[in-house]
Amino acid sequence: MIIIVDFGSQTTHLIGRRIRDLGVSAEIVLPQDALTSINRSRSKGIILSGGPASVYGEKALLVDKKIFDLGIPILGICYGLEVVGHVLGGKIKSGVKKEYGPTHFYLKKDCQLFSGWKNNKKDFTVWMSHFDQVIELPKRMTKVGSTATVKYAAFVNEAKKIYAIMFHPEVHHTQYGREILSNFALKICQENPMIDQKKIEEIKKFLKEKVKDGKVVCALSGGIDSSVAAYLTYEVIGKKLSCFYLDTGLMREGETEEIKNTFRKKLKLPLVIIDAKKDFLKNLKGVVDPELKRKIIGETFIRVFEREAKKIKAKILVQGTIYPDVIESQGTKHSHKIKTHHNVGGLPKKHGFKIVEPLRQFYKDEVRKIAKELKFPNSIIHRHVFPGPGLAVRIIGEVTEKKLEILKKADRIVVEEIKKAGLYDKIWMAFAVFAGVKSTGVIGDERKYGETIAIRSIESKDTMTADWSRLPYGVLARISERITNEVFDVIRVVYDITTKPPATMEWE
Ligand code: XMP
Repeated sequence: MIIIVDFGSQTTHLIGRRIRDLGVSAEIVLPQDALTSINRSRSKGIILSGGPASVYGEKALLVDKKIFDLGIPILGICYGLEVVGHVLGGKIKSGVKKEYGPTHFYLKKDCQLFSGWKNNKKDFTVWMSHFDQVIELPKRMTKVGSTATVKYAAFVNEAKKIYAIMFHPEVHHTQYGREILSNFALKICQENPMIDQKKIEEIKKFLKEKVKDGKVVCALSGGIDSSVAAYLTYEVIGKKLSCFYLDTGLMREGETEEIKNTFRKKLKLPLVIIDAKKDFLKNLKGVVDPELKRKIIGETFIRVFEREAKKIKAKILVQGTIYPDVIESQGTKHSHKIKTHHNVGGLPKKHGFKIVEPLRQFYKDEVRKIAKELKFPNSIIHRHVFPGPGLAVRIIGEVTEKKLEILKKADRIVVEEIKKAGLYDKIWMAFAVFAGVKSTGVIGDERKYGETIAIRSIESKDTMTADWSRLPYGVLARISERITNEVFDVIRVVYDITTKPPATMEWE
């Protein structure tokens, strides 16, 4: 385990991502909690992230000096470098020139972080984002690298295993960034990379500790995250688990039948299907605001679960929450909330469950690899992501039965055509959106004022960023033709060509 102390950088979560990609667990903590978290977790390494502040500012975020005496390797990145410099007695000053973006780093001296690079990688491109810099090193620190404007762009105390770099190794633009983080995590901290099998064991160990007493319900949506969470929980506690699938009425066409078939027959999980269509539609009546929709759906989910779990006296709820859900719902303390994912920020504060989230530290592609290792059917592994609040966040405006009916038909056509074109497994997700905009059309010789369906097809690796798919015109044409011919109320079809950021994947 590597602890990442978050000083509010936009890329703190990316550091975590890169460390996890190396097969090492990572946990992001706040500066004031750093010492306690390090002691509690017996971590093998500490990374101090970047951050927007100045270490000498009045409200500067710093760490307890004691963390430098624990004998645990430390890597300071950008603001983290300044924290190392400041806390250990060096001098920091605002620079003459701001440095944002790519620059050249010159390696002056070998150390374990750049082990053996003096001959073949002595200068390389790095990505910077800073204004301040260290102008006087703390005692027993050695300069190992610089840039044109920063004299101490990297310094170390090898004996104490304290390393500090001014640039960001976690961003793609930094050459050899992955190797630097790998040198830190695997060589300096001596972490053993976890293979997928080891990750499964870790999750099961976590579950054993958290769900050992009493009956447990798992919120199963049919997506990969909740399926993996349910499957592993079943492996740990067997019949004490009931998997609740809520038919919210906001699912895609034919979804409930498909889920019944996959989970009861193929994965042999104890699946309970709860018809909650009326609850959801009633609670969403008249609601237009997207965040309110998400909150109402989160609340309805938990209330229906409470009602049903009471019948079997279950007090623990296992959810398949993954890391991007957490980041977008609440983020790190200093980052912005993007939207309330129903299973994180959408949950009401008071409910009768102990919530257990075994995948909270994982990204979607990691969960897919775990599912592969568990020999899940391909239909689950490659199933497109579907948001917990379902079609409600793909209908702009109030959710009504009529709009749901239109959207379900249009969505089925999109997926059918994408599958027919052999593109389904190649893209992240493709779906239809009820745009809530009416426009004029002509059918036969008659004027028709009808609905608009937007098509969204996107490519992504980790949900944090995305590009729109360059679908062949032929496929788009067939989708448009079929929707306007087969879905009576739709008069216009448009294609969404926005990346994330600035847009998110779902429309709401
Ligand atoms: P956005 O719209 O935030 O979506 O770019 C990123 C990915 O997350 C899915 N998504 C959700 N998943 N509960 C979920 O379980 C939610 O509330 C939720 N909202 C969005 C979305 O489908 C996309 O794949």
